[in-house]
Amino acid sequence: MPLKVLSVASEAVPLVKTGGLADVVGALPGALAPHGVETTTLLPGYPAVLAALRRPRAVHGWDSLVGTPARLLAGTLDGHHPLLVLDAPALYAREGAPYTDSAGRDWGDNWQRFAALGRAAADIAGGAILKRGKPQPFDLVHAHDWQAAMAPAYLRFAPHGADGRRPSVVTIHNMAFQGWSGAEVFPQLGLPAEAFAIDGVEYHGGVGMLKAGLACADAVTTVSPTYAREIRSAAFGMGLEGLIVARGDAVHGILNGIDADVWNPSADNELPARYGHRTLERRRANKRLLEAEFGLDPDDGADGPLFIAVTRLTWQKGMDVLPEVIDHLVGIGGKLALLGSGDAGIERALMQAAARHPGRIGIRIGYDEALSHRMQGGGDAILIPSRFEPCGLTQLYGLAYGCLPVVARTGGLADTVIDANPAALAAGCATGVQFDGVDYDGLAAALTRTAALYRQPEVWERVQKNAMKCDFSWKASGKAYADLYAALTA
Ligand code: ADP
Ligand code: GLC
Repeated sequence: MPLKVLSVASEAVPLVKTGGLADVVGALPGALAPHGVETTTLLPGYPAVLAALRRPRAVHGWDSLVGTPARLLAGTLDGHHPLLVLDAPALYAREGAPYTDSAGRDWGDNWQRFAALGRAAADIAGGAILKRGKPQPFDLVHAHDWQAAMAPAYLRFAPHGADGRRPSVVTIHNMAFQGWSGAEVFPQLGLPAEAFAIDGVEYHGGVGMLKAGLACADAVTTVSPTYAREIRSAAFGMGLEGLIVARGDAVHGILNGIDADVWNPSADNELPARYGHRTLERRRANKRLLEAEFGLDPDDGADGPLFIAVTRLTWQKGMDVLPEVIDHLVGIGGKLALLGSGDAGIERALMQAAARHPGRIGIRIGYDEALSHRMQGGGDAILIPSRFEPCGLTQLYGLAYGCLPVVARTGGLADTVIDANPAALAAGCATGVQFDGVDYDGLAAALTRTAALYRQPEVWERVQKNAMKCDFSWKASGKAYADLYAALTA
């Protein structure tokens, strides 16, 4: 009998994505299947998710789910893996991004929108809504980030299920997003009074959704071993470090993998020229076309690398420092093609820097999945100067594509990139460049080192080959999750 897991999240590719969470939730069913785990994904019924459902079946209805009527629809995530969609128009049928309105402000009722997701998950997994075997009850609930983190709290404090509570896992993809509301929402959550406590949902006098999950889940995971250590400290724990320390051995670091069906340069339909580590020369055509796409001048005599960045433009990602080093980047013969969106001040600073260096700096504000593939397939090095990075996926894509990652030494970036220092180069294991200190000096020095490596074509090519041979598939991490589930359900 396969182990049945309900994976609860607010994003999953190919249906809805604002960041790496979606890549991971979308890949998990396939990553877990070889280990005897059958995953059903539960998502909110955003317009895009409902639109993608083909012939949905309604399998349940709630008259009032945290105060609003809702239906449960069944379909598939990707034509293959089972999907449940929580259709609650009052909560999810609106224009804008999943968490913010069109002006970028958080929806005021986010507490209700995501408490409902957690309540639904607990009802489904506990078997409370079981009707003639459909949908089947689950052995375990896996909740991702604050949007799903109320599920373990409902399972613990208000398990409607006839057959008792199910074990649960919460995965922290980013400790910076916690889902906090004032105490006035508590009476509307449908939880008993005892849940408003230090070992329940109470946090700083209000309701903390991520906090609730961390306190109530049977196990907590985060997406890299280094981040699992870092969040034990005030610098990374964002106030929850004490709880993480208190959870002790229940906290695990399991590295994200990448989906090789989507991110593989030898089979990537988005690339003008596909290639492998034995045919690296084909990247040249991709680079030419990429430079043209970003208005970069291929014949201006610059002999440094073409740096790329594909990122949210935020403080977390160190993107406020990038505009400061652009003159230096150009000074060492480099070029930059950047794709991203986010903070308006950072966008402005990048555009101003680009205007100073026509033909050398190309900035594209927006979100473009296909372009991100072409950038990994044509750029020389990808810049990821994050101040913190739970795992990070773009460095893994960079490794797979031979677009060498230049990363801050933190979180998953520290765990996945081997710095090209003299010892690692001599040992033949270097895969990129790491640096300490997300500030002008740290990033500028890393750019200088990268350019120096790039000017030694044989060394550069060896590092590219090392990078492309790394295995960051889901093989090991899929097994790590399956082992954890097995231990919790034994
Ligand atoms: P985070 O989730 O913190 O933003 P990750 O590195 O884990 O960081 O994942 C980011 C994901 O979003 C990657 O798949 C990356 O390629 C993608 N991405 C980020 N910004 C853009 C963009 N502007 N256009 C296309 N893809 C983007
Ligand atoms: C978050 C983190 C990122 C991680 C992703 C998927 O968005 O910021 O580091 O890779 O989740 O786990």
